[in-house]
Amino acid sequence: MKRQWQIGEILQVQITDLTKNGEGVAHEDGMTIFIDRAIPEDLVVIQISKVKQQYLKGKIVKFLQPSQFRREQDCPYFEICGGCQWRHIDYLFQMQMKRQMVINHLKHIGQIDHAKQLVQPVIGMKNPDYYRNKAQFKVSPAGIGYYKRKSHYVIPIQKCRTQSRVVGQKEIAVVDQWINESRVTLYDEKKHRGCLRGIVFRSNRRGELLLSIIVSNESELDKNELIHFFTKKIPNIVSLSININAQKGNKILGKTTKVIWGRAYIIEDMCDCYFQISAASFFQVNTDQAEKLYQCVIKLADINRTQNVFDLYCGTGTIGLCLSKYTKQVYGIECVPEAVDDARENATRNNVHNISFYLGKAEDVLPTLLEQGINADLVILDPPRKGCAQSLINCLIQCGISKIIYVSCDSATMARDICLFTQGGYQIETVQPVDLFPQTGHVETVVLMSRVEK
Ligand SMILES: C[S@@+](CC[C@H](N)C(=O)[O-])C[C@H]1O[C@@H](n2cnc3c(N)ncnc32)[C@H](O)[C@@H]1O
Repeated sequence: MKRQWQIGEILQVQITDLTKNGEGVAHEDGMTIFIDRAIPEDLVVIQISKVKQQYLKGKIVKFLQPSQFRREQDCPYFEICGGCQWRHIDYLFQMQMKRQMVINHLKHIGQIDHAKQLVQPVIGMKNPDYYRNKAQFKVSPAGIGYYKRKSHYVIPIQKCRTQSRVVGQKEIAVVDQWINESRVTLYDEKKHRGCLRGIVFRSNRRGELLLSIIVSNESELDKNELIHFFTKKIPNIVSLSININAQKGNKILGKTTKVIWGRAYIIEDMCDCYFQISAASFFQVNTDQAEKLYQCVIKLADINRTQNVFDLYCGTGTIGLCLSKYTKQVYGIECVPEAVDDARENATRNNVHNISFYLGKAEDVLPTLLEQGINADLVILDPPRKGCAQSLINCLIQCGISKIIYVSCDSATMARDICLFTQGGYQIETVQPVDLFPQTGHVETVVLMSRVEK
């Protein structure tokens, strides 16, 4: 008879797996149990906290034998903060688990039986902290911070080990001071009332900062006071803007950005190119690792000056520009207007003339380019987390492009899309994960595919 589970039940389990969200996985009497913050090889006593038909949730009551992969906690906020999910795990083991996650997705979602042979060891970081070049803070009466784990309640923080050192304790304290002194009202997500919604810092490796103040409306802000305060207290700010987000919900940036002081962007150099990054455009959050990612794409592209490239979901044109000196022509497609503006500026800044950018959805623009007789030997796909539109995949399969490099920050949706490509006549040559997000359950993956059936 099937075992009846009760909330509050106590049992001993061995953890055998790990989820992206930082839950350990155990199996007992044919049931899967997810245990918050447990990790493989932990032997623990747990209490059942949730009973569902397909799974159970549990909480650790006691460690009988902690896993060899546990490590000392180095962040005072880890227990409550929703930022890092894997900070309690040894970094080398994090990378092994990320590789395994990519293999599992390719095998179970992508139906690639020999996934293990294809997936290379993860390219990791030597020092996996202080890597983020973009800090997005929510606001609360007690100071700026992040959402508490599994909630929309903001916990104030004074420092964060994943953020670049240029957004440290001092910079966070300055923002807190401005909030207190300016008496700006804080936005309440539930009531859709109040002014200040969030703070975004972006930084480059030279230590320059772009600061964006996100508000529901501008009426409460004294811009001169704002400029005077921040430029005096944080002298490495080179760009100060107000972003207006009047929409309900928790999406941080709104559509309108007004630069009130300095430049509209900061500049980063990577792979011998310069890139401008404005408040709204996409830029990989880990610059050092993004550089390794792009180098990996250049190597796998193995392209020559007679060949053309489609850079789909191109953002500010980073991958296309890095590839441009090895190709005849690059065509970039991106749906965010500011990113396309940045991409065009980036081409000019880098004196690159064999690249053109198109504004619109890749699935709409690509068929139009093909109709105009434009084609390519290599396609780069770097979609957001939800993956590619099926119509785009069908279009690529139909036109039979010989080589595809798929770059993804979500290996589950990537595996779903890859399955369609393999069914459509492509085979995977190699899979290279790159760790752009240490201390979290996320990983970036590059997949090289080639056309085997015409
Ligand atoms: C993961 S980012 C990649 C950007 C760029 N390749 C890079 O490495 O910086 C995905 C980009 O796709 C854009 N995007 C999202 N949906 C799109 C679509 N349907 N068509 C074109 N671009 C899209 C986003 O605005 C974002 O800039």
